[in-house]
Amino acid sequence: MKLDHVNIATPDADGTAKLLSDLFDLPVVKRVEVADQGVKVVKLDCGNAVVELTEPLGPDTPVGRFLAKNRPGLHHMCFAVSDIRAEIARLKSKGVEFVNDEPKLGAAGLPIVFLHPKSTAGVLVELVEKRDA
Ligand code: CO
Repeated sequence: MKLDHVNIATPDADGTAKLLSDLFDLPVVKRVEVADQGVKVVKLDCGNAVVELTEPLGPDTPVGRFLAKNRPGLHHMCFAVSDIRAEIARLKSKGVEFVNDEPKLGAAGLPIVFLHPKSTAGVLVELVEKRDA
């Protein structure tokens, strides 16, 4: 399965982007605010995957609540799959639990789903459907 992105929650997306981009020579490829998810997102290109930095736009947002309980750092990792419903069925047959098992459209307009971290060694895992994955 192909890694699509790693998402890091940070109180300062631009500062974190500058740090990681200087340290690891990763170009910033996108900087966007997604109001309905309450985040500012900065993306760094790693060649075959993306590092996504999300900064909450306020405390009462999903990432704001995450940062109130956890230190800044890894929020989730995402794998690209070509048929998200087939993957959900396959993983469910292995006993995997989902945060939402009905795909919804993510910020990029592609279907996404989140697996429950208790099924995946404590790491929140996202699947995104990319037909060419
Ligand atoms: Co994601």
